[in-house]
Amino acid sequence: MSRSSLLLRVALMLFAALLTAPVLRGQAADQRERQAVVVVRVHPEATLTVDGKETRQTGERRRFVSPPLGPGKKYTYTFVAEWMPRNNYETYKVTRKVTVEAGKTVEIDMSEADLKKGDILFIRFVPTPPEVIDAMMKLAKVGEDDVVYDLGCGDGSLVIAAVKQFHAKRGVGIDLDPQRIREAKAKAKEAGVEDKVEFRQGNVLEVDDIAKATVVMLYMSDEMNQKLMPILQKQLKPGARIVSHRFTMGGWQPDKTVTVDLPQEDIPEEKLIHLWTIKKKQEQNHSGK
Ligand SMILES: C[S@@+](CC[C@H](N)C(=O)[O-])C[C@H]1O[C@@H](n2cnc3c(N)ncnc32)[C@H](O)[C@@H]1O
Repeated sequence: MSRSSLLLRVALMLFAALLTAPVLRGQAADQRERQAVVVVRVHPEATLTVDGKETRQTGERRRFVSPPLGPGKKYTYTFVAEWMPRNNYETYKVTRKVTVEAGKTVEIDMSEADLKKGDILFIRFVPTPPEVIDAMMKLAKVGEDDVVYDLGCGDGSLVIAAVKQFHAKRGVGIDLDPQRIREAKAKAKEAGVEDKVEFRQGNVLEVDDIAKATVVMLYMSDEMNQKLMPILQKQLKPGARIVSHRFTMGGWQPDKTVTVDLPQEDIPEEKLIHLWTIKKKQEQNHSGK
């Protein structure tokens, strides 16, 4: 090989090395671990947890930065936002699974609950006093042909009273809180009515056998009643009764409202209970009346 062609070959090799160096550098860089970022819009007072760990930021916009993640791989985090809207009685719980990639940013909106997608509206346990339970059973005219459901049954007192004192055929209680279900089952055993009642854990907005109820008892909230209203109107049979302690159903006017006095309390109190009866389809107008 002549000296000039040797020089040309060396020059070409150097040129090729110069061209490929940035590509190789880029490949090396792509192999580096990087953080992912999730920007979350939430209710300003929400607590936010990521994979069960509470985050410390506050405000409407929170920024979660992941630990360095391997290149090209996807990771899924579970974000849970919880807040109380206007009172200390209701809680919203919004859950989202978010998949992230190293070096990328994702934005999600968790500022509103979508109850149709499994987000939860939870009402805290406040028991209905025995005098009010009695009045609710009488207002619904509970008797031996009835199947009585309590949506959000708490410690089971209404369901147990329905079968024990008012001789309902069967009683069903549903509650999201497993502790309440354990209490209700223990109370039913103590009252000797285990074989006539069923208590199960679940979300009241997802009950799939409510059509079996001839009476539905409620002590929830205005907001929850309004979510339940179309479900009850659609699924309950004509003649079925709904009785709600305290809360109404938006535009659906009750057939009757009764005041229950609790005179024995230190501060005398009046409790309102409301009754709706499911009419035959042709008798219902648009608001369900
Ligand atoms: C105000 S307490 C009423 C308890 C009982 N019905 C009574 O009148 O004594 C509301 C109950 O509903 C339950 N609850 C709240 N949100 C719920 C939901 N989304 N699905 C099922 N149960 C729920 C709570 O655990 C609580 O026991």
